[in-house]
Amino acid sequence: MTDKKATLTIDGKNWDFPILTGSMGPDVIDISTLYKITNHFTLDPGFTSTASCESEITFIDGYEGVLAYRGYQIEQLANEGDFLETCYLLLYGELPTLSQKAKFDSQITQHTMLHEQMGKLFSGFRRDAHPMAIMVGVVGALSAFYHDSTDISDERQRMIASMRMIAKMPTIAAMAYKYSIGQPPIYPANDLDYASNFLRMCFAVPCEDYRVNPVFSRAMDRIFTLHADHEQNASTSTVRLAGSSGANPFACIAAGIACLWGPAHGGANEAALNMLNEIGTPDRIPEFIARAKDKDDPFRLMGFGHRVYKSYDPRAKILQKTTHEVLEALGIKDDPILEIAMQLEKIALTDKYFVKRNLYPNIDFYSGITLKALGFPTDMFTVLFAVARTVGWIAQWKEMIEDPNQKIGRPRQLFQGSNIRNYVPVDKR
Ligand code: SDX
Repeated sequence: MTDKKATLTIDGKNWDFPILTGSMGPDVIDISTLYKITNHFTLDPGFTSTASCESEITFIDGYEGVLAYRGYQIEQLANEGDFLETCYLLLYGELPTLSQKAKFDSQITQHTMLHEQMGKLFSGFRRDAHPMAIMVGVVGALSAFYHDSTDISDERQRMIASMRMIAKMPTIAAMAYKYSIGQPPIYPANDLDYASNFLRMCFAVPCEDYRVNPVFSRAMDRIFTLHADHEQNASTSTVRLAGSSGANPFACIAAGIACLWGPAHGGANEAALNMLNEIGTPDRIPEFIARAKDKDDPFRLMGFGHRVYKSYDPRAKILQKTTHEVLEALGIKDDPILEIAMQLEKIALTDKYFVKRNLYPNIDFYSGITLKALGFPTDMFTVLFAVARTVGWIAQWKEMIEDPNQKIGRPRQLFQGSNIRNYVPVDKR
């Protein structure tokens, strides 16, 4: 806390508000008393200048391209650690010791199976249902099965619900995929690591053994780490707002999945690959660049731009390297889609429209190419994002619940509608 203050002048009267300083990043002006003392609201559509909470979990410097989970930079975590270690870090605030990690990994493994009755939920969907629709439904339904971990006031139940969410999301995602292609679900295998287990549940069939390619499981694990958390993005803010009413964690995560689905957010990886496929050949790139710049055309370059990053998304750089590793392991020398992506990136990074607006590739630009190379269909891309982001949503939800100053989120508005008027009977209108 500093004694720095911001002074607001309204109708010649000065009002002082404290300026708070965090451990990193911009200072904030605490306006929590503004309405009470000035009878004014602030207006900030899209929350471009608004901090919704204090948090110790993830730090982003959009100008320097820095992303850190609990102070550890994403490059080190993605290249030297593994996803479950990152989950422990996000949940508990410190990297685990060898014994803590072994215990945590084992706890997660023990929760990977779904209640057998939940399998029946999938058959209620059409086979061609978008897997994100299935994820929203099935994750929301978890609260109907796990009553012993929905009392959010009980720390032990909060932790069990956290473990269950992290452990069961890959199983639910794999079951949604298997259901969509008419294959039987594959049960989790307790002798496999998190990413290998997920790949096996997606791509194994009961008729033969399935061996996970270590390059693929390493790439999958790294993709999970890169997507694990990202400060107060739209879906995380949705989870926090849902949780602020006291809703159970499964319902809150289902709300986060629904928000992530949008093409402006987590749905951008699916949209980016569809866009690259639509471009089809490098000579059509200028046509799409022109469309992205045309104010009368709603088309945007999917996988480009970011509310916070005004430089290269550090996750995109790591993903670009991972894409090359996976394609090399597959013996794919010149993937036409990757070729288009790299040419599109090169052109966009020199075009003044994009340079002026600080529009760089974000995590979704390369993730689709990697996931396609790993064998996933496009409509599964956002599902994988949701699997990875579940730990971030849960960590942020726990932090919100455990904040002694926590209260229900309830924004106000600038009303522009009709003034008060009297009802007119229908025969007099
Ligand atoms: C994710 O918030 C997070 O952290 C999200 C995420 C996470 O990990 O949780 O990082 C994951 O969602 C990444 C973003 C994925 N979305 C996309 O790739 C979709 C395409 N990108 C855009 O829709 C857009 O860039 C946003 C939504 C990501 C950010 O939008 P903003 O911050 O609201 O910026 P804006 O819409 O005000 O754009 C500023 C200018 C505008 O032009 P002008 O009005 O100034 O002339 O840039 C233009 C926009 O038209 N612009 C684009 C563009 N993105 C912004 N023009 C063309 N193509 C684009 N992609």
